[in-house]
Amino acid sequence: MKQPLEQLIQNYRSEINDRLKKLQTPELPVSLYKPMLYSVNAPGKRIRPILTLLTGVGFGVDREKIMPAALAVEVLHTFTLVHDDIMDNDTQRRGRATVHVTWNTNTAILSGDGLMALAFRLLMETDSPQIRRMGREFSQAMLEICEGQALDMEFEQRESVPADEYLDMVGKKTGRLLGLACQLGALIATNDEQIVTNLKYFGIELGQAFQIQDDLLEITSDVKNMGKSLDSDIAAGKKTYPMILALSEMKETEKQPFMEFLKSNLRDRAAIIEAFQQYSAIEISRQKVTELLNRAMLRLHALPSSAEEYLKYAVKMISNRQR
Ligand code: IPE
Ligand code: IPE
Ligand code: MG
Ligand code: MG
Repeated sequence: MKQPLEQLIQNYRSEINDRLKKLQTPELPVSLYKPMLYSVNAPGKRIRPILTLLTGVGFGVDREKIMPAALAVEVLHTFTLVHDDIMDNDTQRRGRATVHVTWNTNTAILSGDGLMALAFRLLMETDSPQIRRMGREFSQAMLEICEGQALDMEFEQRESVPADEYLDMVGKKTGRLLGLACQLGALIATNDEQIVTNLKYFGIELGQAFQIQDDLLEITSDVKNMGKSLDSDIAAGKKTYPMILALSEMKETEKQPFMEFLKSNLRDRAAIIEAFQQYSAIEISRQKVTELLNRAMLRLHALPSSAEEYLKYAVKMISNRQR
């Protein structure tokens, strides 16, 4: 038997998928709308809009009232993925070929822009006296995601990156959107600044943990399970959390050979896992995930009891994720 909250989340996911399928967009130009719908309707996990719904409903708001903001968050996320895949040179996403591979880079840039505009239009359908504030948070979060992506690229060129700089970067590129997802759900219900700020940081910490899990899965999982290409972190010299840990344990002269070894063994997952394990990088990364999730959960104490219960369940769900 499914737990009631697991069932609730599954219902939210189906409802989000249905609503995304019914998005009102023109058919023409085909080269704009087809790739937009192709990426939005591919099977994403819908974690961010689920967070928006869980937060809002946890505060007692009607699900329908929160839906436009939830959809806006998912469409915004999809936009970041389409552009991220160009930047990371990835060929697979959500079990499909990426937009720039299926069409071309210009089409992916433009359909990403289209998704961003659509996200804003959806957000503005929210019926709430707080809509102005929600618009500001939405724009600010977008800017911070861009900051995170800029730092992520800058770090590729650096020999090493300290863990606190990494955490700041992933707090922006990934955490800020999870924070926004929760903030929007709360803003429809309350103007208590303390609560809204707490939820922002809850999402940032949850997102930091989520990104370290993603870094780990990119090493330990496979393309079929993840539905996306997994070689690009190593190929691009990304400073992922396990990479930072491993590099910090090495002498200067060992760093280059280590990176070269990984690059020339991209097809040999067992060898790559073993290389990271030599430095306990996988185990310590897992501990960091747990630490961040526990820290995030401490932020939930002052919430109404259903919001606390729902979001704690979301943390548990993320903590167990395998994809
Ligand atoms: C992918 O996010 C980008 C990261 C922050 C790691 P998800 O893992 O939530 O991707 P989808 O939406 O399920 O495809
Ligand atoms: C995800 O970055 C964050 C954004 C897309 C803004 P990654 O590049 O680490 O995520 P994946 O591995 O491509 O999903
Ligand atoms: Mg990236
Ligand atoms: Mg990427």
